[in-house]
Amino acid sequence: MNIQTLLNARIQQAMVVAGAPENSPAIVRQSAKVQFGDYQANGIMGVAKKLKMNPREFAQVVLDNLDITDVADKVEIAGPGFINIFLKSEWIAVEVARVLQNARLDVQEVSQPQTIVVDYSSPNLAKEMHVGHLRSTVIGDSVVRTLEFLGHHVIRQNHVGDWGTQFGMLLAYMERLRQTNDEISMVLSDLEVFYRDAKKCFDEDADFATRARELVVALQSGDEQCLALWDEFIDISLTHCEETYKMLGVSLKREHVMPESAYNDDLASVVAELDEQGLLKESEGAKCVFMEEFANKDGEITPVIVQKTGGGFLYSTTDLAALRFRQHTLGFDRGLYFVDARQSFHFQQIFTLGRKAGFVKPETSLEHMPFGTVMGSDGKPFKTRSGGVAKLSALLEEAQERAYSLVASKNPDMTEDELRNIGRVVGIASVKYADLSKNRTSDYVFNWDQMLSFEGNTAPYLLYAYSRVASIIKRSEMDVTSLAGDIALVADQERALAIKLLQFSEAVDQVATDGMPHFMCAYLYDLAGVFMTFYEACPILTAELEVKSSRLLLAINTATTLRKGLDLLGIETLERM
Ligand code: ARG
Repeated sequence: MNIQTLLNARIQQAMVVAGAPENSPAIVRQSAKVQFGDYQANGIMGVAKKLKMNPREFAQVVLDNLDITDVADKVEIAGPGFINIFLKSEWIAVEVARVLQNARLDVQEVSQPQTIVVDYSSPNLAKEMHVGHLRSTVIGDSVVRTLEFLGHHVIRQNHVGDWGTQFGMLLAYMERLRQTNDEISMVLSDLEVFYRDAKKCFDEDADFATRARELVVALQSGDEQCLALWDEFIDISLTHCEETYKMLGVSLKREHVMPESAYNDDLASVVAELDEQGLLKESEGAKCVFMEEFANKDGEITPVIVQKTGGGFLYSTTDLAALRFRQHTLGFDRGLYFVDARQSFHFQQIFTLGRKAGFVKPETSLEHMPFGTVMGSDGKPFKTRSGGVAKLSALLEEAQERAYSLVASKNPDMTEDELRNIGRVVGIASVKYADLSKNRTSDYVFNWDQMLSFEGNTAPYLLYAYSRVASIIKRSEMDVTSLAGDIALVADQERALAIKLLQFSEAVDQVATDGMPHFMCAYLYDLAGVFMTFYEACPILTAELEVKSSRLLLAINTATTLRKGLDLLGIETLERM
């Protein structure tokens, strides 16, 4: 049990004895300032108000009933009715020694694992993955790792776009190339160029455009030759994605791909079901659902269009089919959608309609996890220097190259192989970490210098901090496996480090609940900082044996925690850099 959970439980119990309703929240948080203690309970005021009691008086009754002397050596009422808690150093020392023995760093598996569908990455296969796909892919993957670590049953769903009118144009272009060129995979080695050239033909050549439209129809009516061509294209495009995932160290595999086309046969029945339930209305020939919830202030409703005039289905129809599949076939308790904030309205509508139609159970939680845009320094969405969309694979290549030059200049004595490997790890980590460390919902500016800097909340800073701790442990020349478990917290810096270490599991919980990995980044950055302060004030290698052993245990715990935290973010560590 982490400190927050423990304090919440104890204080809540005391609140109930003091007359509060069952389950009144104690709202325990880490204190923002040392003078407020280590933790603060903020729930007293709200409950006192409900009980029509003076909050400070109620707080006193809670304290009178609070059984906490084993954990804290001072508890006080502050301001309008906050409770400040000062933890006992002896207790922290015992806890941190216990955590050290525990391979999971005291993060317990949840008692009731959920089945959680995580919809992430989900690129459109007509084009190559670009910088816009970075966020969904790395944030989603980090949350997936965290949820799995907590013992949940996670089902990854890569809802790739592999259907729709653009494919007619691409197939027509493939067909044309076939007549002149056998080696189609060569031409498709750069999908971006392929798409651009196909589009050019489509815009400039009327016969080509006609053929493209014919092929869409043929594809949708299941023409075998056409499907074979399409299959070939999709396979190549997915292979491109997989190369990017591999480079990024992302856990998505082919078996997690559940493409839009997989729902083709369900779409008509989704519409029929909506109709049976009286939810459908015809509007200008299209089949729509109008929901009161989505009326603007003039009472005009933006409908969900589920079938176009002429019979075509839409992105929305597929998402409804996916929702039904996830509930009926996968049986999920919670669905997380890591998709651009610009699709927020779409998901509000789909979730509301999915519930109305009974496609999902009322108790199933549906959560759109929106994210902001990656911006250039000009304040517009990030582009390459030539003004095109930045291909993700090219960006990752560049990152590795830049990181390589950086470390090569600092370490002239390392072998080329080692430098290349460090360049790879640091380069990829920098791009991922720059993204993960920003609040998910805000836009951020893509900036090479900032993300590759060894100062501030960056990957190079954290990776370097980790390698420093690892090297201190190595230089101690002690058999770390046989170190006794006793930890003494004498200096303030030792105590601060120990508490920080115990807060790892709180960061894990926060990422899992809110789907926001920046909480983990902030935690690791703090931890590295607290360690550096500790190391400056409390020498390890030169201390006498007992002190050395205690401090070394704190260092080992720091290294393990940094490595595990970075691992949950999907970032590799280096023992030397
Ligand atoms: N392919 C879509 C796009 O690139 C994202 C799909 C997200 N997932 C979903 N279930 N709609 O915008």
